[in-house]
Amino acid sequence: MYRQDLLAGRTVVVTGGGTGLGRAMAERAASLGAKVGVMGRSAGTLEETVAAIRAAGGTASLATADVRDPLQVKAAMDALEAALGPIDTLVNNAAGNFLSPSEDLTPNAFNSVVQIVLYGTFHCTQEFARRIIGNPERKGNIINIVTTYAWMGSAFVLPSACAKAGVLAMTRSLAVEWATYGIRVNAIAPGPIPTDGAFSRLMAGGFEEEAKKRIPAKRFGKPQELADLAMYLMADESDYVTGECVVLDGGEWLQSGQEFSGYVQNDRAAVKAVLHAMKPKR
Ligand code: HXC
Ligand code: NAP
Repeated sequence: MYRQDLLAGRTVVVTGGGTGLGRAMAERAASLGAKVGVMGRSAGTLEETVAAIRAAGGTASLATADVRDPLQVKAAMDALEAALGPIDTLVNNAAGNFLSPSEDLTPNAFNSVVQIVLYGTFHCTQEFARRIIGNPERKGNIINIVTTYAWMGSAFVLPSACAKAGVLAMTRSLAVEWATYGIRVNAIAPGPIPTDGAFSRLMAGGFEEEAKKRIPAKRFGKPQELADLAMYLMADESDYVTGECVVLDGGEWLQSGQEFSGYVQNDRAAVKAVLHAMKPKR
């Protein structure tokens, strides 16, 4: 789909790049010539991404950080810049999410997801932008991974819906505010794409088949499809695109609206029993 040197000379950091969609974007960027840094909490999965990129002939490095902690984010970006050189592209992909009846959420459960998705995106975005602003020779490119319920809202994933809506607002706000610094800010809103992280937390029992039925394309998305869209937004050739949120969902939200709202049709006690069974035991 793209020429092999599309991202030559570029340095891309992907948060949550050790697993799922983050790993797919990291590997794709490396395959098109970018040096790639991956950031997340677990060194083990980050190492697997770095090893896969290097085995394919690419350049990659990792730094562990919890995106909820701005000091950890700064240290990780310092480490990645020391290893790879100045970062020009940030993909805010790290996220936390789970299904829960909203009336049963604890304050910490709500806080945990909002801290990762909204605050984490802010900490990474601000730390990255501060390195660009004031350096006229540097340009910046930010891609935020949201989801279609960022504007629709969704039952049963309230913290994520609130946080993703905030990230979409951040995308549009900063696209305007930081254009003068040569920083573009865009978002991608995927519908369901099978990954262990998402589907283990969001698709219980027969939910998966129900979810597929709601998609006009009658299939889930593929990580590679998301990665290729991200490459377009990363490329200098899309320089005039900013403040945009591109949907990648097989037509789902236009037909069905809120992602998890279908469960309100089911017996609520039965839904709650299933969601509670999905909560990790301590
Ligand atoms: C209710 C839950 C819960 C659940 C955790 N909690 N899971 N509450 N139902 N299923 C509560 C805990 O009881 C705790 O509250 C609080 O949340 C924090 O939990 P911890 O495990 O201590 O937090 P932490 O270790 O920081 O883990 C964060 C996490 C976890 C979000 C809870 O799931 C995680 O690390 N996720 C990262 C990966 C991920 O979620 N990937 C999916 C992204 S998919 P108390 O009060 O008991 O202390 C996605 C797709 C969207 O976003 C679109 C799909 C179409
Ligand atoms: P995933 O594999 O669970 O990815 C989430 C990543 O975020 C993990 O690598 C995780 O690594 C990292 N992360 C979580 N909390 C973190 C923290 N506090 N600090 C740093 N890193 C953290 O799930 P995915 O499906 O690939 O999701 C990737 C993105 O796509 C998310 O933004 C998600 O909302 C979005 N999305 C996914 C789907 C889908 O159907 N898959 C649909 C729409 C949108 P560690 O645990 O090691 O930190």
